[in-house]
Amino acid sequence: MRADELRRAWTQFFVERGHTSVPSAGLIPHHPSAPMFVNSGMMPFVPYFLGEEAPPFDPARAVSVQRCVRAGGKHNDLDAIGRSRRHLSFFEMLGNFSFGDYFKEDAIPWAWEFVTEVLGLDGDRMWITVHTSDDEAEDIWADSVGFPRERIQRLDKDNFWEMGDTGPCGPSSELFWDFGPDEGPDGGPANPAAEERYVEFWNLVFPQYFRQPDGSLRDLDAPGIDTGAGLERILGVLADSPSLYAADTLSVLTDRAQEVTGARFGGDRLHDIALRLIADHTRTVAFLVADGVMPSNEDRGYVLRRVLRRAVYFSYMLGVEKPVLPPMIETCVELMGEAYPELAESADSVLTIVSREEDRFRRTLRTGSTMLDSHIATIPEGGTVDGTVAFTLHDTHGFPFEVTQEIAAERGYDVDEDAFRKAMADQRARAKAAAKGGGVAVGDEVDAFRAVLDASGPTEFVGREVDSTTTTVVGVVPGAEGTVSIFLEATPFYAESGGQVGDTGEITADGARAEVLDTVYALPGLHRHVARVTEGAFEVGDEVTASIDSERRAAIKRHHTGTHILHWALRKVLGDHVKQQGSIVLPDRLRFDFSHFEAVTPEQIAEIEDLANHEILANPEARHYETSMEEARALGAIAFFGDKYGERVRVLEAGPNSIELCGGTHVSRLGDIGPVKIVSETSIGSNLRRIEAVAGTGPVERLREREAELADVAARAGVPVGEVVDGVGRLRDQLKAAQDEVKALKKQLAGAAAGNLAEQAVDGIVVARVDGAERNDLRELALSLRDSPGVRAVVIGGAPEGGGAALVAATTEDSGIDAGTLVADATRAIKGGGGKDPRLVVAGGKDPGGLDEALDLVRAAAGIA
Ligand code: ALA
Repeated sequence: MRADELRRAWTQFFVERGHTSVPSAGLIPHHPSAPMFVNSGMMPFVPYFLGEEAPPFDPARAVSVQRCVRAGGKHNDLDAIGRSRRHLSFFEMLGNFSFGDYFKEDAIPWAWEFVTEVLGLDGDRMWITVHTSDDEAEDIWADSVGFPRERIQRLDKDNFWEMGDTGPCGPSSELFWDFGPDEGPDGGPANPAAEERYVEFWNLVFPQYFRQPDGSLRDLDAPGIDTGAGLERILGVLADSPSLYAADTLSVLTDRAQEVTGARFGGDRLHDIALRLIADHTRTVAFLVADGVMPSNEDRGYVLRRVLRRAVYFSYMLGVEKPVLPPMIETCVELMGEAYPELAESADSVLTIVSREEDRFRRTLRTGSTMLDSHIATIPEGGTVDGTVAFTLHDTHGFPFEVTQEIAAERGYDVDEDAFRKAMADQRARAKAAAKGGGVAVGDEVDAFRAVLDASGPTEFVGREVDSTTTTVVGVVPGAEGTVSIFLEATPFYAESGGQVGDTGEITADGARAEVLDTVYALPGLHRHVARVTEGAFEVGDEVTASIDSERRAAIKRHHTGTHILHWALRKVLGDHVKQQGSIVLPDRLRFDFSHFEAVTPEQIAEIEDLANHEILANPEARHYETSMEEARALGAIAFFGDKYGERVRVLEAGPNSIELCGGTHVSRLGDIGPVKIVSETSIGSNLRRIEAVAGTGPVERLREREAELADVAARAGVPVGEVVDGVGRLRDQLKAAQDEVKALKKQLAGAAAGNLAEQAVDGIVVARVDGAERNDLRELALSLRDSPGVRAVVIGGAPEGGGAALVAATTEDSGIDAGTLVADATRAIKGGGGKDPRLVVAGGKDPGGLDEALDLVRAAAGIA
């Protein structure tokens, strides 16, 4: 069976059983409890399990084929990849889900029906595991399905699945395939020595709890079913192959890897490992980049970078000099672009980004080898490479430890792995100490918010239509520092989200008034008005008038729609690889972070501004409306962030060219934005840029500030504003002329001083202190003194203008005095060092306080003290 046939059969089977087919979400999770990547099919559905959002499916069931990455965090298989045939960092998970709908008694028999009837697998070769506590699941397998109890085993931790350090979790039941005695001893999946023989291919999880950040468990609002069957695993079982690489979605890639690298399966073990690893990592890299991750040194970008680099250095170890990832990615796009249109759509930018990173890393590999070679040259033959050197190579230069080992071994050297691991562990401990805690709110306040949501449901947002409304108070929760959280049935206040700040304003009733300082979501759907009561008091049931600060909101709208126009212009000028990585929309400015691999030039900035302003001046309509996700996709809406499945989404068409999903608030014609001006462009990490811009009245305000500054400069230069450029130019010329004159005068003075000093010679030796001159001037002075009649040697000490101490010694050819020996003790006194020329030494030191003593030491050394 091919992957596309299996995907289709899976989806059809569950759609026939009332499930809504949900397309794969991107690999970047959105829920605050989520780990780094989407690592399983259930992750896009977390809000439904938690009861934070109502599932938009009727009945509350879904089926999906979800792309997953397990590289980093709780489920991390990275180190095993290539070495094992059973681990992948990227895979596709087939899943069926119930959110408080059906439970074990349906999920288990359906699993059985699918594997035996749809796939036609032999039930006698299967084993089942259930959690030690789960009699119910075992009874369903035995009594409803008729599965023999002797092949049902009970396990503890292995049958309890958790999404990550936090998140939904619960007992599970797993289906195993027996690959036969050639693959290991018998005893079923409970025998730890038989893990190669009994391979799990489907996991039925019964999520019942939420693992909280403090480690405790609380009950889920909507327990249900979360199943996960590895697509590659099932294809392997169908082919009766214990290797996941039997799946066509991988074998095509290992074939391609053989062509690209020239390595062959079945020869060298390194070849086998490298071919599997390159195939696996290609998919991870391609999909992560397509989903908006950029190689960097932090967070997801770092994991991507590691995965990408591993693929490259394994090919490097095979001796492949030319880039391997671009042809691999091309094949991957051909292979999977149909099932995952997002991949096909971003193929060009994925290729650009990956090629650049591979090139860069290949340069690192070359420099790293050179550095390692020069370290090796300093240690005795057959010795051990210092582990901290290996660590620096790894940490600072991205040179992988395995490659250090490989190269060292080739030359007959060991690497001190313990020292390397220790340096790594130390660094990890530092990183951990610096990392922030989890993002899930806890405590009494949250319970109170939850109670409001349970009692009154989500807040009705009317702020797109009106700035003020009468409504009813549904909750009042006292907060920190004299604030209260007020909850309303309906509100015109926008709660901070999607980068747009929350509204401010006031809530009033008869004899009561509260100033709203900020609006945020207390829980999804629940608007929390963070307020200070200035008059009277508020109680549940009160009729109130809620009014936002309309001017502030109007300014926010200008900046928000302006952000969309800038995003469009950025992509137009810089390319489609530009993806939004975050944004902040404020009343007085906007900030937009995006992926791009180099600084944006001033010319490009001007072009972006021109495009944006041109678009705005044409004054087309901005249409903001609700539609289905499918329709939005069909329209080509950009949705990197809201890429979560849901029935209804909001689309903003800002003029004819910009179309994005957006839940913010916006102007109704682009002309309302007013002029847009980018005020800064900076780097905020590797391959990440940030622009800040102002719209509306902002550009005029900035222009005014600049004018005031210019007037100030003109006043200081003593010229009218219109002549400021010439005026400043003239000032610079005058300054230069004055500086030249000072230099010439100094030189004259030094000449005169030299004459005086020559007269002070004792036994043809001059020892003197001259402060305030530059080191070079001291050198000149010493040389011209030395050439004066009757002088054999000169030592001048001084504290130069820039700080520190200087000592210059010059001797004539026939003096027989070595300049270095003459000042050896003195140099130590100023804590300095210098050259070894017997005729001329220029020594520098840190300590001008020791200069007089130093000159005394010179006199002693010269015998003229
Ligand atoms: N969420 C479960 C898993 O990933 C099904 O194994």
